[in-house]
Amino acid sequence: MAQTTTQADPAATKTAIITGASSGLGYECARALLRTDRSWHVVLAVRDAERGLAVADSLEGEGRCSVMCADLSSLESIRNFVAQQRSAGLPPTRALVCNAGVQVVSGASRSADGFELTFAVNHLGHFALVCGLLDQLARPARIVIVSSDTHDPERRSGMPAPRYISAEELAKAPSGPDEEATSGRRRYTTSKLCNLLFAYELDRRLGQGRSGITVNAFNPGLMPGSGLARDYPPLQRFAWRFVLPLLRFLPQVGSARASGIRLAALVHDPRFERVSGRYFDGLREVRSSKDSYDREKASDLWQTSERLAGVDGRLIR
Ligand SMILES: NC(=O)c1ccc[n+]([C@@H]2O[C@H](COP(=O)([O-])OP(=O)(O)OC[C@H]3O[C@@H](n4cnc5c(N)ncnc54)[C@H](OP(=O)(O)O)[C@@H]3O)[C@@H](O)[C@H]2O)c1
Repeated sequence: MAQTTTQADPAATKTAIITGASSGLGYECARALLRTDRSWHVVLAVRDAERGLAVADSLEGEGRCSVMCADLSSLESIRNFVAQQRSAGLPPTRALVCNAGVQVVSGASRSADGFELTFAVNHLGHFALVCGLLDQLARPARIVIVSSDTHDPERRSGMPAPRYISAEELAKAPSGPDEEATSGRRRYTTSKLCNLLFAYELDRRLGQGRSGITVNAFNPGLMPGSGLARDYPPLQRFAWRFVLPLLRFLPQVGSARASGIRLAALVHDPRFERVSGRYFDGLREVRSSKDSYDREKASDLWQTSERLAGVDGRLIR
């Protein structure tokens, strides 16, 4: 049985941290990375240690995985994770994959710190995690942030377009019932826009790869069957789990396994070594939405996130 922190396999020379590695895309990315070669040690950053340990076992990664708790809806949990990672004595950290995500459609919820939950988990928690881990990243290292094409209204994904007025507004948890039936999905697409605004701003602050750290964003494409629809009404959940996966012969319907292999390639493949500040649809570099390149929104998001997360992002220059 894997331990919450384990001694790394002596063949391991680099560590990758993957958030949300207990299921779906994060799990498949861990699996693919461990299959590349024995040089990778993977930290499964999960919110439930017991499930994480079961996942580590199923990855057959004896000595090749560590399980550490990071609940992205709690800034305290993220601080604890950063401290645990610092003292774990693992090989140098060369990759951080910000993958965990939620879609909350049954009404607005709050994070442990009182922020709107989708914004807190999908963006703010990852912002705090990256800022906390930055001085522990070896050089070179790669940060990959998982976004979604649902952030881009021009992609016609069937999801409501993001609505970004200010990060302050996004962080506020509505006190009453949702004003529109689509509010939860809109919060999700807006959080995926935040992923891109954050990725591009972080890349600029890290000197567009010159610091030795690259930052890219990733769209895994549609992966029905994953846990993302767990808050959907029962019929939609059933369709997501059992019906949509039958449509994998369509080019726009993929699987977590195939996308996980592509995500892992962004982490290990030498061809992406110096690539930074880009958005990948699978492994194809594409433009993201017009709004995602908006420097004013990126700066507003950065400054507000610094204040809300209580981290000093000015250190990142
Ligand atoms: N599925 C799609 O079609 C699709 C399309 C585009 C983009 N994406 C993106 O892909 C990423 C992975 O999604 P998925 O489809 O693989 O969904 P998933 O199977 O639900 O995986 C999401 C992961 O995030 C974790 N998570 C949720 N809340 C967390 C929290 N508070 N703290 C820490 N971890 C938390 C979950 O952990 P638990 O198991 O403990 O809940 C789970 O491991 C997300 O960023 C999503 O936006 C998915």
